[in-house]
Amino acid sequence: MKLSGAHVLVTGATRGIGLALAEAFAGAGASITAVARPGPRLDELACRGWRTAAADLSRVQDVDGLVDRAASAGGPVDVLVNNAGLNVAVVLRELDADTLRRVLTTNLLAPFELARQALPSMVDRCRGAVVNISSIAGELALRNQVPYCASKSGLTHGTRALQRELRGTGVAAHPVVLGLVATDMIHDLSADPVGGQMAKRFDRLPALDAAVVANRVVRVVERGRGAVVMPALAAPAHYLRLTPTYLTDGLLAGIR
Ligand SMILES: NC(=O)c1ccc[n+]([C@@H]2O[C@H](COP(=O)([O-])OP(=O)(O)OC[C@H]3O[C@@H](n4cnc5c(N)ncnc54)[C@H](OP(=O)(O)O)[C@@H]3O)[C@@H](O)[C@H]2O)c1
Repeated sequence: MKLSGAHVLVTGATRGIGLALAEAFAGAGASITAVARPGPRLDELACRGWRTAAADLSRVQDVDGLVDRAASAGGPVDVLVNNAGLNVAVVLRELDADTLRRVLTTNLLAPFELARQALPSMVDRCRGAVVNISSIAGELALRNQVPYCASKSGLTHGTRALQRELRGTGVAAHPVVLGLVATDMIHDLSADPVGGQMAKRFDRLPALDAAVVANRVVRVVERGRGAVVMPALAAPAHYLRLTPTYLTDGLLAGIR
């Protein structure tokens, strides 16, 4: 897809991977709508000439109609980047109900609801892409991260299903499956006793740079197909889990 002049909506654009993604898409000539919870970080993004839309994606009422609101301000959304997400490192039996709901809603429900809102216009125009930022944790079933692993597993696999649904429409779905990226999220986890222990064990693995990830995502969207799986070490875990899907693709060949 040609990104010059495209309208790209990025959730969680105030920091970390989302900010790097918004910068990379802006660098490719796109106009940006940055979404995050209201606050000074979001306000500051307006200085870059980006449109901003305040929304807490864990609240259904904030997610409802969000794509239409962005389209009214900046024209039809061409690329939806579902990046906002959070993790908590706590055993499930000690997690409060509100946090469980917040992680699952932000990481899993909101991305597919926003895609549901954005896709009809994309398919009508034969132009568009949905980018879902997921995690290798979705393939790893890590203890003490039940809601995160469950949500990222669902996000990755749902995006793979969406890719198949969108074949022949001119619209792409791109799963982005990432290992550790140096952002606030991994620092927050390190502050937790359980997450801290895990971070120490994974310490030998170098963290990815958010800008490098973002540039790879932009290239995949420009190409119009494919996934991003980084680092390369993460690829076997992701593609092994897809084996039954590829076999099913063969069984379903020819069925429209
Ligand atoms: N860092 C890693 O190692 C890693 C690895 C694999 C995948 N990922 C995934 O990459 C994505 C970005 O992670 P990151 O490391 O960049 O995290 P981060 O630095 O903690 O940034 C999270 C972003 O999401 C936004 N956000 C969080 N909760 C939100 C909510 N309820 N409503 C709206 N916005 C919300 C935050 O904005 P405000 O706080 O300003 O609202 C912020 O912009 C996540 O989906 C994460 O799961 C990260």
